[in-house]
Amino acid sequence: MSVGTGRGAAITGWGSALPPTVVTNADITTLFETSDEWIVERSGIRRRHHASGPFVADADRAPTEPADGIGSTATLAIEAGRLALERAGLTGSDIGLLVLCTTSPDQAVPATSAAVSSALGVAGGAMDLNAACAGFTYGLVTATGMIGAGIDRVLLIGAETLTRVTNFADRTNAFLFGDGAGAVVLEAVPGPGCLLGWDLGVDGSLVPLLYADHDGPGMAMRGQEVFRRAVRVTVASAEASLERAKVGIDEIALFVPHQANIRIMEAVASRLGLPQSRVASVIDETGNTSSASIPLALVDAASAGRLTDGDVVLLAGFGAGMTWASAVWRWGG
Ligand SMILES: CC(C)(COP(=O)(O)OP(=O)(O)OC[C@H]1O[C@@H](n2cnc3c(N)ncnc32)[C@H](O)[C@@H]1OP(=O)(O)O)[C@@H](O)C(=O)NCCC(=O)NCCS
Repeated sequence: MSVGTGRGAAITGWGSALPPTVVTNADITTLFETSDEWIVERSGIRRRHHASGPFVADADRAPTEPADGIGSTATLAIEAGRLALERAGLTGSDIGLLVLCTTSPDQAVPATSAAVSSALGVAGGAMDLNAACAGFTYGLVTATGMIGAGIDRVLLIGAETLTRVTNFADRTNAFLFGDGAGAVVLEAVPGPGCLLGWDLGVDGSLVPLLYADHDGPGMAMRGQEVFRRAVRVTVASAEASLERAKVGIDEIALFVPHQANIRIMEAVASRLGLPQSRVASVIDETGNTSSASIPLALVDAASAGRLTDGDVVLLAGFGAGMTWASAVWRWGG
């Protein structure tokens, strides 16, 4: 990326948060005609975490009220952001910009990042970024650009309560979605930094494939069509990023795809020529958490010691819009 100050960004902290309510495929079978076998075979999902919805233990609780204090997009974002700051040895007062990637904000107005910024004591500005499931990678490129423009430290969070816009009567997609948040701290480093190549895109003619209206019943999706196009655009975007980074696929230590469906993740990896052993996956545990899915998988890999300084990581996602985004990133300083 060519930007004003001639400096780049490095990831120096990371953290994640999942609501404690776990919804298994067996729980899903109480909603409509389906089975654990069908869901696992078609999607790879075994469990997902719900911040709210029909599976709360406390029947007296209002549906939108957090079950345990971490039930909104903001509260999940705050927890993941707090852990990322702690890991980086920083506090909110060190942060010049908060970017909250979400497609399920807590309110139509204002941006959810305002409440998150206040809770974490962020000194600088804050904004929401909605690029659906490609959101976190859009955010990573945006945050790196802002560091190039002069901000020293950015807190980048992907956080979702997708179950608030899930239609639990629709068996074709209700089993897919979950809630959660993942965050990273980005700090300025001299020289080009860790973003080696990137690609962002959107094809707005494909809006009808996946959408949720303000006053509609929830998510509406043409699953097979999304599946087909997702594989195609993710592969093309990843290849564009690799080419711009001048990085060969053999140099990729870890591929962190959007966690939408294990079959999409496997198909993309196989077309890129990557073995499954180099694919980060948390989908069996989280389902599709949109903007939170890539940071949840990245944080899981980092926390498990799968990443060492100098490793080159490929991130790639796609989502409603239809959006897509990919980035080649060097782990470490
Ligand atoms: C949703 C998805 C898992 C469905 O898998 P699929 O293999 O495409 O399944 P199909 O839609 O072809 O349905 C197959 C059959 O299962 C049935 N079915 C649908 N939902 C079902 C459910 N929950 N349980 C059991 N059967 C179900 C269908 O009615 C269909 O029956 P038929 O063959 O008798 O017509 C898959 O299309 C997908 O993951 N798409 C991408 C979604 C995505 O990534 N969205 C997020 C983008 S960010």
